Amino acid sequence: MDKNEKVNELARRRGFLWPAFELYGGAAGFFDYGPLGAPLKRRIEDIWRQFFVIQEGFAEIEAPTIGVEGIYQASGHLSGFSDPLTSCKECKEIYRADHLIKHIVEVPDALTNEEIYRTIQENEIGCPECGGELSTVYEFNLMFKTMIGPGNKMTGYLRPETAQGMFINFPRLLRHFRDSLPFAAVQIGKSYRNEISPRQGVIRLREFTQAEAEIFIDPRDKTHPRFAEIKEIKMKFYSQAAQETGTEEEMTFGEAVERGVVAHQMLAYYVARTYQFLLAVGVSPDKMRFRQHKADEMAHYAADCWDAEVFLDRLGWIEIVGVADRTDFDLKAHAATSKVNLSVFVHYDRPKKRQKIVVKPDFKALGPRFKGKAKAVAEALKALPPEKLQGDKITVLVDGESIEIEPSLVSCETVEEEVRGEEIIPHVIEPSFGIDRILYTVLDHSYYEDAVDGETRAVLRFKPAVAPIEVAVLPLMDREELIVPAKKILEELRIRGLRVDWDTSGSIGRRYRRNDEVGTPYEVTVDYETLELGTVTIRDRDSMQQVRVAIEEVADTLQSLLSGKVKFLEAGTLVVPAKEK
Ligand code: ATP
Ligand code: GLY
Repeated sequence: MDKNEKVNELARRRGFLWPAFELYGGAAGFFDYGPLGAPLKRRIEDIWRQFFVIQEGFAEIEAPTIGVEGIYQASGHLSGFSDPLTSCKECKEIYRADHLIKHIVEVPDALTNEEIYRTIQENEIGCPECGGELSTVYEFNLMFKTMIGPGNKMTGYLRPETAQGMFINFPRLLRHFRDSLPFAAVQIGKSYRNEISPRQGVIRLREFTQAEAEIFIDPRDKTHPRFAEIKEIKMKFYSQAAQETGTEEEMTFGEAVERGVVAHQMLAYYVARTYQFLLAVGVSPDKMRFRQHKADEMAHYAADCWDAEVFLDRLGWIEIVGVADRTDFDLKAHAATSKVNLSVFVHYDRPKKRQKIVVKPDFKALGPRFKGKAKAVAEALKALPPEKLQGDKITVLVDGESIEIEPSLVSCETVEEEVRGEEIIPHVIEPSFGIDRILYTVLDHSYYEDAVDGETRAVLRFKPAVAPIEVAVLPLMDREELIVPAKKILEELRIRGLRVDWDTSGSIGRRYRRNDEVGTPYEVTVDYETLELGTVTIRDRDSMQQVRVAIEEVADTLQSLLSGKVKFLEAGTLVVPAKEK
């Protein structure tokens, strides 16, 4: 078994991830989160909330997962959200054409359908199932279509991204944020894509969870007020230029913006926050890089995009997050389709003075000439741009009637006016996270095999902040005199809000191994010394060392360990760690 198989087998056996609908034969692209998977996912989402709702001051909303057709007409998903397909002429199996050439072309997304087909032919790629000849490449729209209500009157689509919920609520969100930029809204929720061949577990699902932030900014100012906080962080950037040479460049965010590797501070700041979040949930920095999209690979709405990619055994480099500059694409598209003005009036710091040409009709002459229509003619003249006032005759349109007027009846005057601000369409920076892919990465990057006493111990080295079980309480033996004090400890830990498991089955060694395998950071063992001395042991998953602490200190000590205030140094010693840089 390779690592990918081992991680998937463990995830299935121990209740992290189960293929859905197994009772009825299953369906590719759907997974259930079991009793350990669901809390792991929830904890990752909660850390995401800490980063992108609480620490940034963004607003979390919840929109329907079914959307009406107009949304996806405007967003471009109806016309452009498709994947290239090819089918086997012999066995009729259907494949993602770009995936069949992934080992030949580094970024197949950048190729046209004709180029993908040519690559298939030139490299004599046949059907992976039967070796048969493959068809020309064609497009398949990935949205699930449905009908809203009876009678097939209204078409709906399951949302392919959560983002549109934020865009179409823009006017209300703007009001919520008291009409001023920048502001942002987020959603964590399900998205749906009718993926063609979802064969990689939760990496490619037909129903998956996204966490997305849409950050609405003033396009004239792409600096970020908190850039100084992240500018010294070093990371691996795999820019468009670096992809030409095939080597990532490590540099600070400050340097990346200064050298133009990342276009502006706004984008760089959210790439940095993404990096910090991924580290916080347990993605390994050695198996992570940020890759810039190539110009012809970019989504239809993006001007620039950086993907967080992780290295997974067997699967190679996989995108788990995309941070895109969506510019004003979506708001402009929704304004055009819905006919609602989605601009923002932005006040200048100080009003600006501006010269303006004012058209002045001669009311005394227009009155007798046009009688009841005089007012409308005057208004039409005032609305004309100055260049239309040139020539022998001026023409205005009043109630559909074209009226000619001599230039002597109109004069122009230049006046100075005070301008307080202007209407702009905000730009949008969007970090888009695939929670399922992140969760799988956390499993893969936390999985280790240690040699212990001539045996192999499988261990998930989860960060305590995401561990589905934080503490296991283990009475040494299933006897009343040990069960009673152990249950008391269990209750106290649960009252304090810790995620605690209780396990009395099998030898203590087996129970330690079982907990190592599901990533429980600490185990409390109640033994006969507990009865004599009032102490219990706390075992550390990673070092397998133990300390004895008094029963009345066990809850405080565990909380200090879980929050990182103290850590294990050597058997029997806990230390306060030095501050990490
Ligand atoms: P891919 O090229 O791998 O299909 P994508 O470029 O279409 O991915 P995006 O449209 O940028 O992905 O979606 C944003 C995030 O949503 C991705 O980074 C990924 O983590 C997640 N995601 C997208 N499609 C799926 C899927 N089918 N299953 C699970 N997660 C997904
Ligand atoms: N919102 C980005 C995407 O899902 O494609």
